[in-house]
Amino acid sequence: MSTKIFAHRGYSSKYPENTMPAFLAAYKCGAHGIELDVQLSQDGVPVIIHDEAVNRTTNSKGLVKELTASYLTKLNAGKRFKWLSRKATIPTLEEVLDWMSKTNLILNIELKNSVFPYKGMEEIVIKMVHDYHLASRTVYSSFNHDSLFKIHKIDSAAETAPLYKKSIPVPWEYAKSIHASAIHPHYRNVTKELIETTQQHQIQVRAYTVNQTKLINRLISWKINGIITDDPKQALACLEAF
Ligand code: G3P
Ligand code: CA
Repeated sequence: MSTKIFAHRGYSSKYPENTMPAFLAAYKCGAHGIELDVQLSQDGVPVIIHDEAVNRTTNSKGLVKELTASYLTKLNAGKRFKWLSRKATIPTLEEVLDWMSKTNLILNIELKNSVFPYKGMEEIVIKMVHDYHLASRTVYSSFNHDSLFKIHKIDSAAETAPLYKKSIPVPWEYAKSIHASAIHPHYRNVTKELIETTQQHQIQVRAYTVNQTKLINRLISWKINGIITDDPKQALACLEAF
């Protein structure tokens, strides 16, 4: 087993997060997978953006859930990246899935539904993933663990992974209780023992968001299943040197 490197919001240390340039750059540098954040627009279209509001990453203001997909996808999502030759925009999930289906990347879809529990989001996203024949290489994660339980009820074969910041007493047991196939802890919660015990129970461990080489090397030496990082090139270099 070799550790898989996931580009967090794409190659977000160099490119505008959650945009096609960041996903393309992650693919080109050899990342095994990409992680992205999905929310629903006012008209129910899954769009790729991290914050509940567009203020930080675009040239506009307002909540994603109160803006239409047509409005959202015209915004400039790379306002701090003036050197980019092409304007970076908020992609729809469909746009990313269409591109993904032409690659061999693993997809980690984070459902951003802890603040606003978008009604029907799970059904919409799962259907789209199946329509693009990406179910076998998609992992759904969320801080909203009820949503992951719901995903399992809709599609019992779906791979899910609870995200968590504070420690959970027995993570593998918890993962099994919600039918998850992996856990996605903050890297501060990860120990060698946690990885070994969790893997012994057939639950994978992928840590987020790991950007320091010292930590990356340590996690690789502990045989973690996945590292979610803003700088996939750096993590891949660590993996190669190991
Ligand atoms: O998937 C891990 C990570 O993306 C969770 O945190 O806030 O960067 O979406 P955040
Ligand atoms: Ca995320």
